Order: sequence, then C-alpha cells, then structure tokens
Amino acid sequence: MKNKIQITRTQNSRLSTLDFNNLPFGRVFTDHMFVADYEGGEWVNPRIEPFAPFEMHPASMVLHYGQSIFEGMKATKNQEGQPMLLRPEMHLHRINASAERMCMPAFPEDLFLDALHALVGLEADWIPSGEESALYLRPFMFSTDEFIGVRPSDTYKFIIFTCPVGPYYSKPVRLIAETQYIRAGKGGTGEAKAAGNYAASLLPAQNALKQGFDQVMWLEGPEFKNVQESGTMNIFFVIDNVVVTPYTDGTILKGITRDSFLHILRDKGIPVEERIITIDEVVAAYAAGKLQECFGAGTAAVVSHVSEISYNGHLMTLPAIESRKIGNMLKSEIAGLRTGRIADTRGWMIPVEIEVDALMS
Ligand code: COI
Repeated sequence: MKNKIQITRTQNSRLSTLDFNNLPFGRVFTDHMFVADYEGGEWVNPRIEPFAPFEMHPASMVLHYGQSIFEGMKATKNQEGQPMLLRPEMHLHRINASAERMCMPAFPEDLFLDALHALVGLEADWIPSGEESALYLRPFMFSTDEFIGVRPSDTYKFIIFTCPVGPYYSKPVRLIAETQYIRAGKGGTGEAKAAGNYAASLLPAQNALKQGFDQVMWLEGPEFKNVQESGTMNIFFVIDNVVVTPYTDGTILKGITRDSFLHILRDKGIPVEERIITIDEVVAAYAAGKLQECFGAGTAAVVSHVSEISYNGHLMTLPAIESRKIGNMLKSEIAGLRTGRIADTRGWMIPVEIEVDALMS
C-alpha cells in the first residue's frame, strides 16, 4: 500500500444489527467510508472515518450544476473466506473516463486501489455469503466549490461507502420500449456514469411503472429504432442462438458486467455480436419464434431476465426463465467467479490485501 490512509474506527459498530437473511438493495450502510478532498490541484487527506452524514453549503456547485459521477462495484468472499474484488481497475478507468467528460479531476489509480483494499478489509465482516449477495461498493465524486456560476469547480470530494446487498431485481422484469424520451444522444453524456443521466431517466421510468412495466428499453432518438440499453443495465438478446448486444457508440454505458459477459461468451465459443440492433429486428425475431432470450446486465442487476417487452402497444412474451440457457449460464458463471466456485482463469478476481500498519488509527 503506497498511500497512508488515516483511519478512525467507529466506536459503535452496527454490524450486530444486520440481518444477513434480509438485505434490501441500497438501504443498509456499513460502519465506515473512505473520503478524500481535491484542493489546490491535488487529492489530499485520504481517510477512512465512521459512516455519517456530512454538511453541505447551499451554494455547493454540485447541487446546481450537477458535476457528480459514480461507480458500482461488488466485493465477495471466496470459498476460503478471503474478500475479493472483481476487476477493480476497470471501475477506476471508467470513473476517470466519466471524470474527463464531466470536466472533473482524475482520481489516482494507486489511491483508488489502496482505498478499496483498506475499506473492504475493514468492513470484511459485512460481506454476505451466498451467490445472490455481495458487499456493494459505491465510489463517487462531486464538486464542492461554494459558487453561483457555470464553470468547473476547483474543489471536489471523492467518497466510497459500502452496502451489503441482495439482488437488485427480485424477479424477471417487464420492459416497455420508450418512444417519446431519449436517454442519450451522440455527443452527449450517455457513456459517463453521471448522476444527471439517472435523473433524466426518472420520468420515463415512472411512466413505465404507471403502465405496469418495471423499466424502459431505451431507443436512440430521433428515429426511436436502435436499441440502446435498459434502465440501469446494458441489454442482451439471444436470437436464433446468437447473442446480440448493442455496440457502445458513446451513447451507451460501457458496462463492466457487459464486458465480462462478452469475454465469457467468446471464451466458450458462443456466437456473439456487438452491433446495431433495431426494435424492428426484435419484433421480427419474436414473430418468427427466434427471440429466445432478453436480459439486462449490470453490477447491481447481474443478469436480470426480461419476461415481456412492449413496443407501440404490441406485447412480446418471452420464453420461460428455466429455458434461458445463456442468461442462466452467465448468472452462474459470474456468481461462481465471485465466490470462487469457478476457477478464475482470467486474473479478474483480486484478493483484498490489508497491511496492518495501513489500518492503524
Ligand atoms: C450498478 O449496476 O452498479 C449501477 O450503478 C446501477 C444503479 C442504478 C444501481
């Protein structure tokens, strides 16, 4: 560990109140969080402190101009009980790509990894076991200048907190293809994991809920033909035994789970295509009886099977979940890798290393 991270341990751990058998997503927070400040052109004062609310100035720039980006990652334990991280460097690269797009400073690679190791090491007892559960890690960065006026902030905070979680979606999802609003267009911020992208998705998602669906399937505007992604996930189809997912063209989040799935599929010799896929092609495949599967992929969602898709009033009901060979295989592979049930041949699983002196308070 290169960086000295000052650690203040909580005097009142809440661990004994945790019900590991009942882990609602994103509602339970562990005892500590990592914090660093960006001031004078550098990241300073990296520290781990008791998890707690913090004060904000009413003119804090993030509240007005939205410079706020985040990541979602998971820590799990392998068969020996060793805490593991899945592809942490991919999340570092993505948060720094998001930072560049939102005119924010990059976060140093070694400090990001040291912070993860120290924090997850400290919170190791909060990591749930079981293939459907994990310790969800939420790194995020936001602007903190106290200023009214549109320009990049000079100061920022970078925080990582963690939550023990169960599944994000507890059942297969019903999607409605969105033909009024768009998530992102070329040249926009769609590829960044920026808070504003999620804010803009809320109204269409609420409309979908009112119509009895769980989420929207985003189509690229203004034609509303090319499928982009779904709600909080990248999207995959299996059509006539070929796995198809939209290629990332700057409007789609470069999902790390998406990337892992592409590697697993190719390694297994399963035909997979990253390309434009139109909603018309999906409808035609369904009509021809060739739409075998559709699922969302994401860190939180892992594999979320899609049971129904609605497009312009036409409802497509997909085959039974038990028959979904690809989605079920990917779900089992990623859970197996995370828990050490399946050997990691790609060097994706990184053991959490904690040096005792780095954890000194
Ligand atoms: C994730 O998959 O980790 C995400 O960030 C999606 C989030 C909306 C839960």
